[in-house]
Amino acid sequence: METLRYDVVVLGSGLAGMRAALQAARVSNGALRIALVSKLHAMRSHSVSAEGGISGVLYPGEDTVDLHGFDTAKGGDYLGDQESIELLVKEAPSEIRFFDHLGVPWNRDSEGKIVLRAFGGMSVPRTAFAADKTGFFMMSALYDNLLSFKNIDIFHEHYATKLLLKGNEFRGLATIDLATGEERVFLSKGCIIATGGFSRIFGFTTTAYSSTGDGVALAYKAGLPVKDLEFTQFHPTGMIPSGILITEAARGEGGYLLNSDGKRFMENYAKSKMELAPRDIVARAMITEINQGRGVLHEASNMMHLWLDLRHLGEAKIDERLPMIKELAMKSLSINPAHELIPVRPVAHHTMGGIHANLFGQVLSGDQGPPVEGLWVAGECGCISVHGANRLGSNSLSQCVIWGRMTGEAAAKRALSKSDYPALDEVEVELNQNTKFLERLLSGGGTENPYSLRKELWNTMDTYVYVYREEKGLVTAMNKLKELRERYSQVHVEDKGRIFNTNLRDTLEIGNMIELAQVVVAGALWRKESRGAHARVEFPKRDDANFMKHTIAYRTDDQPKLSSSPVKITKWQPMERKY
Ligand code: FUM
Repeated sequence: METLRYDVVVLGSGLAGMRAALQAARVSNGALRIALVSKLHAMRSHSVSAEGGISGVLYPGEDTVDLHGFDTAKGGDYLGDQESIELLVKEAPSEIRFFDHLGVPWNRDSEGKIVLRAFGGMSVPRTAFAADKTGFFMMSALYDNLLSFKNIDIFHEHYATKLLLKGNEFRGLATIDLATGEERVFLSKGCIIATGGFSRIFGFTTTAYSSTGDGVALAYKAGLPVKDLEFTQFHPTGMIPSGILITEAARGEGGYLLNSDGKRFMENYAKSKMELAPRDIVARAMITEINQGRGVLHEASNMMHLWLDLRHLGEAKIDERLPMIKELAMKSLSINPAHELIPVRPVAHHTMGGIHANLFGQVLSGDQGPPVEGLWVAGECGCISVHGANRLGSNSLSQCVIWGRMTGEAAAKRALSKSDYPALDEVEVELNQNTKFLERLLSGGGTENPYSLRKELWNTMDTYVYVYREEKGLVTAMNKLKELRERYSQVHVEDKGRIFNTNLRDTLEIGNMIELAQVVVAGALWRKESRGAHARVEFPKRDDANFMKHTIAYRTDDQPKLSSSPVKITKWQPMERKY
């Protein structure tokens, strides 16, 4: 096993991870060695798929930072920690300008001002965008910039298998270099986990096959708490049958949702906002329409859906503002949105919960702390609770880059103040256990096909843990996940080789997904209320008296152990959500 020593290790190379690495490099002024570790080629991280844009108050006037905060708190059904929300809305404009300076080709008006588009739950248009490929352009700008720093080493295609802690302090990361199968340990003064969300625990999802929540699972398996995992965001417009995202910007630019009668049904659910209500409200409305018989059957997939109508936008606007949507619809369904309706239904898209962390992105070791020394989170894998129970579209890119910058800076400053790297013998026992586990997977007989387990996981989550959740279905899901976890202990890795063993990587990812799905379902059963993206049929109302709190979960050998932590309210008092 090779041992590498770095001042800062960033795990994950999406927008949050790259922004963190860049800031650590800028702060260190060449004095620190920084490793950026990704299980993919860095530029293949899922952030490249972000479509619609990034939120921030660029031109105060009608819009204000306070209004952005209010929209975010209300959009999140008042589960968001408001000190985090205040920080998000304050810092977002300068990050958008930072990316302007990096060279992102924002759409601009004739005076050169960055154009802002409407997004769901936002009182005014405040989403900057680069057509419908915003994530790709932001990632390219970051990556190009990172390459100019001699003190950043990028480790593409390194899969992290263990988070190494000593007491309450970070020590290192165990990884496998996928190209060779070699195990490699990174000993470091600090680490930022930025591995993204875990919506791949669902079969019908907008997210990449790589969105398996490895970083969240690494922390959870290391004994650290995770928070609010039951809050999965279902984006209203997943294309049938693939789940490919049709950006909310399609509705922001004026698109309609229609039921089987050709009617704009949102007037019955959110009269003032219509299709631009927050996602949880639109998704619930869509499933209600389908359940009440106003859906349409897609015969090839047997899926029920509704329609997205962009025809009235005209081809020129679609080509200028939504070119990728047009391309995706044409390539996958032979549909030209300028002339035909697009079949859509709600689809798993984002995970509001994640590793339990404080305002500064420091990972917490207990319900209310203390922080784990030298360990931070940035982006979707961490829950600093900006989004509460339901994220507003385009707030996630702001979150990624703000906390990427903050944590990169904090990790660099801490590393500058520390002279020694962690010692290998402090983590040797854990490393040996990890190696033995991997060897057992590679040499053992096992009888369970990992891909069958994954298929059963997806069926379970898609069936019982979708937009509306019921006690009976959740109990069925819980029992099934318990069974899958037991069967996973007998998992069989067919490929015994070391070179690019995707079978081994997939098996490790599937183990992680089963672990996280258990927490999602445990939290969904515990939370006997409907709040944001978590809708319980038997408990249709929000219950602030009993559930205005975060769900905290710890791993055990049986079911997750649940507790809770308080929600921080600063300036926006909870009220009934009406749109
Ligand atoms: O619809 C979208 O473009 C997604 C944006 C987001 O999730 O923030």
